[in-house]
Amino acid sequence: MEVKTDIFLGDCKDILKDFPENSIDLIFTSPPYADQRKKTYGGIHPDTYVEWFLPASEQLLRVLKPTGTFILNIKEKVLNGERSTYVMELILAMRKQGWFWTEEFIWHKKNCYPGKWPNRFRDAWERLLQFNKDKKFHMYQEEVMVPMGDWAKTRLKKLSYTDQRRDESRVGSGFGKNISNWVKRENAYPTNVLHLATECNNKNHSAAFPEGLPEWFIKLFTKRGDTVLDPFMGSGTTNIVAQRLDRNSVGIEIVPEYFEMVKAQIEPSKLMLFDKREDYGNASIRRRYAVR
Ligand SMILES: C[S@@+](CC[C@H](N)C(=O)[O-])C[C@H]1O[C@@H](n2cnc3c(N)ncnc32)[C@H](O)[C@@H]1O
Repeated sequence: MEVKTDIFLGDCKDILKDFPENSIDLIFTSPPYADQRKKTYGGIHPDTYVEWFLPASEQLLRVLKPTGTFILNIKEKVLNGERSTYVMELILAMRKQGWFWTEEFIWHKKNCYPGKWPNRFRDAWERLLQFNKDKKFHMYQEEVMVPMGDWAKTRLKKLSYTDQRRDESRVGSGFGKNISNWVKRENAYPTNVLHLATECNNKNHSAAFPEGLPEWFIKLFTKRGDTVLDPFMGSGTTNIVAQRLDRNSVGIEIVPEYFEMVKAQIEPSKLMLFDKREDYGNASIRRRYAVR
């Protein structure tokens, strides 16, 4: 099987213009959050964040396959004592741009460091917004099933009358459940909350996310041989995980030091480096490496 990892140095909104449309199965990324890490890679003011992001998301919408998914890891910060609203504004603007806002997952940071603030508690979660081009998209739910756990032992021991038949939603959503279907099953589908510790000891990048985060979404939304894109690559976590899971991947990073760091980390036999942007999508001048 042929798996390739292509990395690009530059601004994703420009680099992506040369990518073929409908060519990516999953976009998984964490862009710079507004007004954060100014010293490392420049901050974007919350008031101009939407304006800054939309040209990139326009390209992302173009390159994503109609069956594909875009997962955006983001969290608004506190400014002058209140939460910024730029993430909400971004969701609304992206819907106008043509995106379908399917779901919001929560990453619960299990090892969030202790602290005290006069008017709030420790911030222990981040958003993972799911956008699609269409209501129908590829999703491999069986790949992320979790053990039933103790819940099954207690909850499923005594089943009420309602539990033993299909209980339709009372709010008319069309959803329903039959709890008795889950008796004797070992695995259940997970919730939309992921409990993962942040990783502090890795990467020489101040904002790297833990490998478990892209891993879960890559398994859920792609199969082997599919293509994953991280347009704000940073230390390359998404690409490294994609490579391990036998997915092709593309990474774009604007800071040369991070780009060089990833270049050194990706196994040379799997690395395809493009110096010229025109190379992307032109199969005749593309070299590929078979890894297994
Ligand atoms: C939050 S970090 C990503 C960290 C990454 N998920 C990881 O695990 O290392 C965002 C990255 O986007 C890069 N970046 C900022 N603006 C960019 C742009 N316009 N195009 C490409 N990369 C950009 C930054 O240099 C930074 O490394």
